[in-house]
Amino acid sequence: MKGVILAGGTGTRLYPLTRLVNKHLLPVGRYPMVCYGIERLRQAGVTDILMVIGKQSAGLYADFFGSGENYGVKLNFRIQESAGGIAEALELAEGFITPGEKFVVLLGDNLFLDDLTPYVEKFKQQQGGARVLLKPVDDPRRYGVPVFDPKQPALISYIEEKPKHPKSRYSVTGIYMYDYTVFSLIQGITRSARGELEITDVNNRYAEQGKLEYDILKLWWGDAGTPESLREAEIYMRGVLP
Ligand code: G1P
Repeated sequence: MKGVILAGGTGTRLYPLTRLVNKHLLPVGRYPMVCYGIERLRQAGVTDILMVIGKQSAGLYADFFGSGENYGVKLNFRIQESAGGIAEALELAEGFITPGEKFVVLLGDNLFLDDLTPYVEKFKQQQGGARVLLKPVDDPRRYGVPVFDPKQPALISYIEEKPKHPKSRYSVTGIYMYDYTVFSLIQGITRSARGELEITDVNNRYAEQGKLEYDILKLWWGDAGTPESLREAEIYMRGVLP
């Protein structure tokens, strides 16, 4: 299975630091943030990876990672020209994924301690569709939040993006697994109020078809998009990389 890491985006919540360098290259311990996602994919046997990056810091990615050889993976790069949302960035992976193939997507600022292997294995067995990973959080209002139907507990009925009154205590993390139909589903969505193609809208297309399955992460997860969460990530990720 191939992997895609989405590492574009402007990182406004970390200004002014992110005017200097792209958010996903900021240090978490002795490594740039995005190294941890690469390591999680490698650990799960996903070694053919596309990184979607912005124009900002593009040269630094090449300087630091080269071909990916030193990190045990094969890296490919695509430039996202505009900040049009996660689903717009994902669309750029279409040529990288072979029709009929399944793949894993990580948001580059999502850091976590679980080994992805069992989840990737379950998705390989899954009859197409999509699979997302959830994590119970203190304040689900900051995230996509899944809604469940007790009659079909193995599926997510739909996801509400940053709801004022969350219907569950889970966050939909930025760890997604898709079949190839994701690219046609992206074509069918329109821009949200914030002008973006939302990944939650894509996931809801799968949910409508009864094809959105999930697992729950067992260990720490965080998105390192704010100064506070970046500090927290630094503490939890200590020792994950040599
Ligand atoms: C995005 C997704 C959201 C998800 C979160 C995980 O939010 O839209 O559903 O829970 O990533 O990090 P964003 O951080 O882009 O606002």
